[in-house]
Amino acid sequence: MKQLRIAIIGYGFMGRAHSNAYRKVNNFFDLEYEPFLKAVCARSGDKAVAFAKRWGYESVETDWRRIIERDDIDAVDICTPNNTHAEIAIAAAKAGKMILCEKPLSMDGPEGVKMVKAVEKAKVPNMVWYNYRRVPAVTMAKKLIEEVRLGKIFHYRAKFLQDWTISPDLPQGGAGLWRLDAKAAGSGVTGDLLAHCIDTALWLNGGMESVSAMTETFIKQRKHTLTGKVTKVEIDDACAFLARFKNGSLATFESTRYARGHKALYTFEINGEHASIFWDLHDLHRLQYFDHKDEGKLRGWRSIHVTDHGGEHPYMDKWWVPGLQIGYEHSFIHQVADFLESLSTGKPAGPTFRDALETQYVCDAVLSSAKKGSWQKVKAVGR
Ligand SMILES: NC(=O)c1ccc[n+]([C@@H]2O[C@H](COP(=O)([O-])OP(=O)(O)OC[C@H]3O[C@@H](n4cnc5c(N)ncnc54)[C@H](O)[C@@H]3O)[C@@H](O)[C@H]2O)c1
Repeated sequence: MKQLRIAIIGYGFMGRAHSNAYRKVNNFFDLEYEPFLKAVCARSGDKAVAFAKRWGYESVETDWRRIIERDDIDAVDICTPNNTHAEIAIAAAKAGKMILCEKPLSMDGPEGVKMVKAVEKAKVPNMVWYNYRRVPAVTMAKKLIEEVRLGKIFHYRAKFLQDWTISPDLPQGGAGLWRLDAKAAGSGVTGDLLAHCIDTALWLNGGMESVSAMTETFIKQRKHTLTGKVTKVEIDDACAFLARFKNGSLATFESTRYARGHKALYTFEINGEHASIFWDLHDLHRLQYFDHKDEGKLRGWRSIHVTDHGGEHPYMDKWWVPGLQIGYEHSFIHQVADFLESLSTGKPAGPTFRDALETQYVCDAVLSSAKKGSWQKVKAVGR
């Protein structure tokens, strides 16, 4: 088996999710490559050592630049806050490393363009962790759309709701709270949560033409963890937007961190001429499907438990017996499996940096529309 020597930068939420995926992938997928956990990088040496011990990394670095300089590393996995992605990715590409980068790709479109140019100039395999594409029920939705079962698509409807920033006492910035600091996150729910909804939508329903958005920052000032000073909050706490897709369909997207009672309610619904699809992250193994071609007296929404074998239900033949479900962590295992497979086939595993730039352009148009109060065209990504 060929080894892919990986260095992971950042050991937070995603550092754990990816490390878990690297450790498990070859136990379930037959692949030519296997990840070798070469190094973990984080600024706190002690914490990095503890992380390395727990997850089985061979070495530790406290400056990501050291990772880039090392010639015993093939791939760099960027699991740090959004404002660090570009600098690390561009340096890694220049050093000829493969790059797996967390989402959103960048702080904005122009920064994303530089990243795309860097990986394409260096011709290094690259991928962005929009992991929801690899939830089997979501992958199956893609399959059903490709089989033209829905016919012409009229509507796309997505939302991603949370409730963890309602308290005005919650500070902004620093470890764990960088998402509330626009300098680290770039934006609020738009780049954090809606980026997921947008990536899935572009994948399932094609390109977006134009958007009209509104955003709100409900808590205007918060104490900054790093400075201790009360400063203006510059992220969007909530965002809702309308969109027109290139295929003529109309869409609505909504995201907030102020929906009391909701922790991570990501849902989407697609309505086509012949059929409709609905998916809910809280019930992630199910795909709701309505087919108007069904016999009249039996016609209704089916709740498909996407856990069957035989290649019919994506990825599921790699897991347990039919009917037994998998969960959130598996979307990352699937993504690693597809990335490793892509090294054997030479066919890129999406979303690549270029694919993820399209999501960035939609986010830019959404934020610009909310600011200007008018419809905005979505910039096209050259192919
Ligand atoms: N795909 C998904 O579903 C998903 C989910 C959560 C987060 N994310 C993305 O993953 C990235 C990380 O988010 P998270 O939730 O893991 O954050 P986190 O706060 O849990 O972890 C961030 C890590 O980065 C480290 N770090 C920060 N600056 C660094 C630097 N200069 N050098 C080295 N290490 C540094 C921190 O010490 C921490 O270990 C973000 O871009 C986020 O948008 C994606």
